[in-house]
Amino acid sequence: MKTKSIFFAVCVSIICVGCHVSHKNEMRQVVDRGLERAMIQSKLMAECLWAEKEKMPRTIGKDGKLLTASIHWWTSGFFPGVLWYLYEETQNDSIRQYAEDYTWRVKDIQYTTNNHDVGFMLNCSFGNGYRLTGNEEYKKVLLQGAESLSTRFNPIIGCIRSWDWNEDIWQFPVIIDNMMNLELLTWASKNSDSVRYVNIAKSHADVTMKHHFRPDYSCYHVVSYDTISGLPEKKETNQGYAHESAWARGQSWALYGYTMMYRETKDSCYLEQAKNVAHFLMDHPRLPEDKIPYWDFDAPDIPNALRDASAAAIMASALIELSQYTDGDFSRQCLSVAETQLKTLSSPEYLAEPGTNCNFILKHSVGNYPVNGEMDVPLTYADYYYVEALVRYKKDILKE
Ligand code: GLY
Repeated sequence: MKTKSIFFAVCVSIICVGCHVSHKNEMRQVVDRGLERAMIQSKLMAECLWAEKEKMPRTIGKDGKLLTASIHWWTSGFFPGVLWYLYEETQNDSIRQYAEDYTWRVKDIQYTTNNHDVGFMLNCSFGNGYRLTGNEEYKKVLLQGAESLSTRFNPIIGCIRSWDWNEDIWQFPVIIDNMMNLELLTWASKNSDSVRYVNIAKSHADVTMKHHFRPDYSCYHVVSYDTISGLPEKKETNQGYAHESAWARGQSWALYGYTMMYRETKDSCYLEQAKNVAHFLMDHPRLPEDKIPYWDFDAPDIPNALRDASAAAIMASALIELSQYTDGDFSRQCLSVAETQLKTLSSPEYLAEPGTNCNFILKHSVGNYPVNGEMDVPLTYADYYYVEALVRYKKDILKE
């Protein structure tokens, strides 16, 4: 009897180890396929815009052709960021040359004070470049960028102002996306002798935590503040389905933003917030089996609503990181959802065939549904967070 039990236990252990190994092998193939495809597409994209030094890839236009944007559009830092991640992965000199060239295109953003996207634009381009090369010229641009961004902080409200347009509707709009710009500020304090930047970042994250979230930890897109009282005057959406809906990319920005703030400050209140947002997303009854969110969790035409690959890519990257700061079932759930997202995004449904999709990596994102803008198209930031998630997974999970 005893021999039988031991035999049974040994068999179960062998099966478990076997499953673990085959799961790792499957994920290794997913990551390799995604990175290989990203490399092919990004080289083609870099060559395609090589001579047009003012242009950055954005999406595919309604005419089916590549739509570029000027460096002043909020997405200008993502393509250089993709190139840096691919350089990190391959150490390929020609990719590095592309990364350097596309990064320098964005340099004038360091003086931008009329919107909050400076963090996205500089951190993804110059930030990754500095992380990988230690180039002191990149550092100067980043520090100037942080200074420019900090001019938008209002101490009465405790937040950085997001947008300057629509002034007759919003006194002081703060959008959830703005959480992503805080990384430039935390970096600036670590790389200078001023704590002012990280203090602004913490204040913004704290005030946003207080006013942007509903009791279920879903969040509003736009909160506008009264500039006299410093309190919210309006809670709305701009890119979501309705003021009270959960716009998918906004939820992903929140998840990523608080996970990043925990990494940067080690303040446990940010970790708690990230976990609560993750629960909202991962346990949501309308998150599909393949884990690619509909563009809005409350879109009225679910299950026929458009999916948003960008929301999935941002969420996957954040969940991989969050799984490293947590343990037990919750950590496993984060990783399992991120793995499903990476598998789905790396399948033919979402991953472009080489040389197609105007050289973007992923298909099927949604930019701005309420104005019929960028519907079911590739988006440069979906590509960025997808490649970041693949690199993170390879570094943090496959190497374990
Ligand atoms: N930050 C703008 C967007 O997510 O569409």
